[in-house]
Amino acid sequence: MAADFRRGLPNEGRRGAWPQGRRQRPGPARSMAAAAGPDEADEAVRGTCEDASVCKRFAVSVGYWKDPYIQYFVRQAKERKAPEINRGYYARVHGVSYLIKAFLERTECNCQIVNLGAGMDTLFWRLKDENLLPRKYFEVDFPMIVARKIHNIKSKPPLSKPIMESHSGDSLLIDSHSLDSSRYSIVGADLRFSSDLEEKLKKHSLDVHLPTLLVAECVLVYMTPQQSANLLKWAANTFPVAMVINYEQVNMRDRFGQIMIENLQRRQCNLAGVELCTSLQSQRERLLESGWENARAIDMMKVYSFLPQADVKRIEALEFLDEKELFEQLMQHYCICWASKDSSNLGLANIDF
Ligand SMILES: C[S@@+](CC[C@H](N)C(=O)[O-])C[C@H]1O[C@@H](n2cnc3c(N)ncnc32)[C@H](O)[C@@H]1O
Repeated sequence: MAADFRRGLPNEGRRGAWPQGRRQRPGPARSMAAAAGPDEADEAVRGTCEDASVCKRFAVSVGYWKDPYIQYFVRQAKERKAPEINRGYYARVHGVSYLIKAFLERTECNCQIVNLGAGMDTLFWRLKDENLLPRKYFEVDFPMIVARKIHNIKSKPPLSKPIMESHSGDSLLIDSHSLDSSRYSIVGADLRFSSDLEEKLKKHSLDVHLPTLLVAECVLVYMTPQQSANLLKWAANTFPVAMVINYEQVNMRDRFGQIMIENLQRRQCNLAGVELCTSLQSQRERLLESGWENARAIDMMKVYSFLPQADVKRIEALEFLDEKELFEQLMQHYCICWASKDSSNLGLANIDF
């Protein structure tokens, strides 16, 4: 995540764009991003999938956390990622996991998870190893990304075996843009079109009456405020018992945030929803306005301070962090927001760090 600022891609650091970074002057970035056509713009958004997973794989290879599956989805980074990037991803992965596990605990895994814009995320496999699988785990991403993920799953037994092991009943359904087994399903769909999304998920046995957790890890910001509001409203109206977790940028109106935006735009990647990333308050409000309740939002520096301190100490010893101030600024420009709807009184409103 920190990577993003340093390398110019908020959250998903790429090579090359950053070195002069903080001192860079705003250039013709806005016009370049605006000039990109819809296909090019979507391609840049799809590119963030690779950025996120390469950063996660690098941090895993240094020992920040364990993920035996990420290696099957992405290549190892050619260059080292900066320590502040690795620490940022550590906080992101642990912060999001913490809330997911709290939801699984409250529902006793009698629930479903829908990971929106899942990219090459490996959570399904990690939850299976921990015996924490929900009744069904869904992933959604652009068809092109899904095709890549399915290819990896089909060709790598450490990925396909857990799906087969958790499958029961008829043979599983698989084509180039979707895979459906009893516990894991992946669907190629554009999140900007919620009726198409719902239809596809229902074909894969989405049960709207089951407690449902929707996860959007660095995804909504790539949609316009209207498009992400439609998605959030669809979710709030569709599932009577549900929680949503959104990880993304915050405090983007200050100078640091503006440079993050400019660096991205220079690479044709437009944060179409950035105006909702103004403050923790604006993040909470967008959830409440979309029909969610009990909305909370905290920045990643706070999340970092809430993580188990023995493990934080361990990861802080892995690499020397020179730029403490940069790390803190980065962490203050990302947040986790969550909200719930709980007609069954499962205690979802009390989930907190
Ligand atoms: C920054 S990546 C994050 C991937 C994953 N959530 C993670 O944190 O590792 C953003 C992902 O959202 C997906 N995405 C963005 N907009 C989307 C849309 N409109 N429809 C489907 N997927 C989308 C991208 O393709 C990409 O895989």
